[in-house]
Amino acid sequence: MSKDFLIFGSPLIEEAEIEEVVATLRSGWLGTGPKVQEFENEFKVYKQSPYAVALNSCTASIHLSILAAGIGPRDEVITTPMTFCSTVNAIIHSGATPVLADCDMETQCIDPHSIRSKITPKTKAILPVHFAGNACDMSAIMDIAGEYQLKIIEDCAHAIETTYQGKPVGTFGDYGCFSFYATKNIVTGEGGMVIVKHKEDNDKIRILALHGMTADAWKRFSDEGFKHYQVVCPGFKCNMMDIQAALGIHQLKRVDRNLQRREKIWQKYNESFAALNIALPSDPAPEIKHAYHLYTILIDKDEVGISRDEFLSAMHRENIGTGVHYLSIPEHPFYQTTFGWKPEDYPNAMKIGRETVSLPLSAKLADSDVDSVILAVKKILRKK
Ligand SMILES: Cc1ncc(COP(=O)(O)O)c(C=O)c1O
Repeated sequence: MSKDFLIFGSPLIEEAEIEEVVATLRSGWLGTGPKVQEFENEFKVYKQSPYAVALNSCTASIHLSILAAGIGPRDEVITTPMTFCSTVNAIIHSGATPVLADCDMETQCIDPHSIRSKITPKTKAILPVHFAGNACDMSAIMDIAGEYQLKIIEDCAHAIETTYQGKPVGTFGDYGCFSFYATKNIVTGEGGMVIVKHKEDNDKIRILALHGMTADAWKRFSDEGFKHYQVVCPGFKCNMMDIQAALGIHQLKRVDRNLQRREKIWQKYNESFAALNIALPSDPAPEIKHAYHLYTILIDKDEVGISRDEFLSAMHRENIGTGVHYLSIPEHPFYQTTFGWKPEDYPNAMKIGRETVSLPLSAKLADSDVDSVILAVKKILRKK
């Protein structure tokens, strides 16, 4: 890779977290320990949630939330076709059946009307994804959940900072699931967090995340004296390490500063691309504070004379890394053969998935990087 190549989603890592990681390595306590506890405590405060459990991914957060909700074989969970595959895979791993409800063309978030049309007597939960940092229509979704007594598991992988009607997303439903993967708004390399309202869910998820061992089993090697543990269910291995939390603690302190930087870049893209014949991301509704996680444009070949994939290659030749978030879930062969899903049955997600391009939006971008992205987009689209 050329040294001038602008890597998509490259995170902003500063000295404070580098020093904290080094101090953690020197402390000799690498696994789940005091730093994880500190990160959980800080995250709870930030999200205004009574409980938070740090895990090794958002995927694990979703999977363990579904299990903690008591959902499994013969149950259905409704989610969106416009998401990362892990949202759907987590439902499958819990033993439940995923059911897709198409997304809204403007917000790219799940459409509450479509949710209603997919409810059956087997439906046990709705799994909305707050897409790109926008918020789903939580007032409509909470009404549906209340009407049919459904659990809500919010996929907040893109939406750490998002609020809806002044309330943080992830706190509407029973479970709020977050990602700290390398390209996310807070990074710990790999990592995730689930926030819950009830102590019972907190305790269940902690046990499920560590082999089914009784709570606080991670303290078995601490200076508090040897502790026996008991295995109460066949759990998983999804705990966060102190090395990861050392990054997260400092990333969380700068979450608002980084958000402001991304919002500025977003506005600059909006102004610079206004005259181009491409769809820009929709502005957040007044009741939403957007997390500005992904800046996505739609490349419609009939409008601009170049396909999305040709545009991706052209950006690469201009040394700019881009992303695709996402090909709609029914485009993938596993889901087609297992569930009989066809892209055409979810027309909004299909269109978005075939035309979308995410442009770099990291807080790490210098003004000159942003200018390079803008120049490249204009050069490619004006040539056509
Ligand atoms: C919408 C969405 N859900 C879930 C995930 C899974 O997150 P993780 O990689 O932390 O498991 C991602 C990650 O990209 C995502 O974008």
